[in-house]
Amino acid sequence: MTYKIRIGLVGYGKTGKAVANVLSKDPRFELCWIARRTAGASVRTHPETAIPIIGMEQQSFEAIFDRYPVDAVVDFSSAEAVRLYGEIIRKHRIMLVSAISSYSESDLAYVRSLGRNTRVMCSPNITLGINFLMVAANLLRKVAPFADVEIIEQHFKEKPEVSGTALKIAENLGMESNRVTSLRIGGIIGEHEVIFGFPHQTVRLSHSSIRREAFGTGAAFALSQLQACPIGFYTFEDLLVQATNQEWSRQLNFGNDSPKRRRQPDLSRVNR
Ligand SMILES: NC(=O)c1ccc[n+]([C@@H]2O[C@H](COP(=O)([O-])OP(=O)(O)OC[C@H]3O[C@@H](n4cnc5c(N)ncnc54)[C@H](OP(=O)(O)O)[C@@H]3O)[C@@H](O)[C@H]2O)c1
Repeated sequence: MTYKIRIGLVGYGKTGKAVANVLSKDPRFELCWIARRTAGASVRTHPETAIPIIGMEQQSFEAIFDRYPVDAVVDFSSAEAVRLYGEIIRKHRIMLVSAISSYSESDLAYVRSLGRNTRVMCSPNITLGINFLMVAANLLRKVAPFADVEIIEQHFKEKPEVSGTALKIAENLGMESNRVTSLRIGGIIGEHEVIFGFPHQTVRLSHSSIRREAFGTGAAFALSQLQACPIGFYTFEDLLVQATNQEWSRQLNFGNDSPKRRRQPDLSRVNR
């Protein structure tokens, strides 16, 4: 039987609930507990599971880790929570996947310091799709620096600020922030599009958010990558670039054992 990564999830709000849905169904993981600030009115286990939901008003993190040992913590709570469990994960080398997007500089420095003793992934955007879009856009920008580039982001009518993700994409592509076009329409959850205009063709890289469960899929990807990494601090992009590089080398070396590939001559030495 393969070993399952035992996880403690901190945060059971709008996003934490969706993340719990994904992690509790993934056979690679065992979601052992969920911590939230308050105990909650009546529900004490995640629906259709026996996973306990623990209110931090009644327990300490020390007590939770003692009672339910885990290999990894996934944090979708608030910026202050890491100060409550940080030294425990440092001491026991428990992996951390933190999705908190509002860390102050000093909080972020503390999270980075945990990377000296254990494996830590921290990113303000933890979806596989958006991170893939960023990596692909960066690559295209490098191979076609002459193309015109524009970024369009669309969100629900009430969202007041420009999308942080769109600003990050612009920064990565070396563009001014005022080059991002924002549309506020009805109830759109989140759409990001990077358009590359060539003289005779157009490339559009676009991403649509459908459900918050996408953050759970991102956390699962981060956990599976992080467990194979040396101790250190990583962003989601680091893990994605590492995974794509591994895939590129596997394909270049014809490591794929599909019959079609096996018939191909090994050109890897010729290419070097
Ligand atoms: N990186 C990403 O891609 C990404 C995506 C989405 C969200 N996020 C981040 O995830 C976090 C949660 O977002 P949300 O929309 O789900 O917020 P939310 O609905 O307000 O939920 C916050 C949850 O955290 C719990 N919590 C807060 N402080 C805690 C503490 N000290 N110890 C234990 N639990 C604590 C709350 O407990 P109660 O339920 O008892 O109040 C609640 O369950 C935010 O920081 C947000 O920026 C990141």
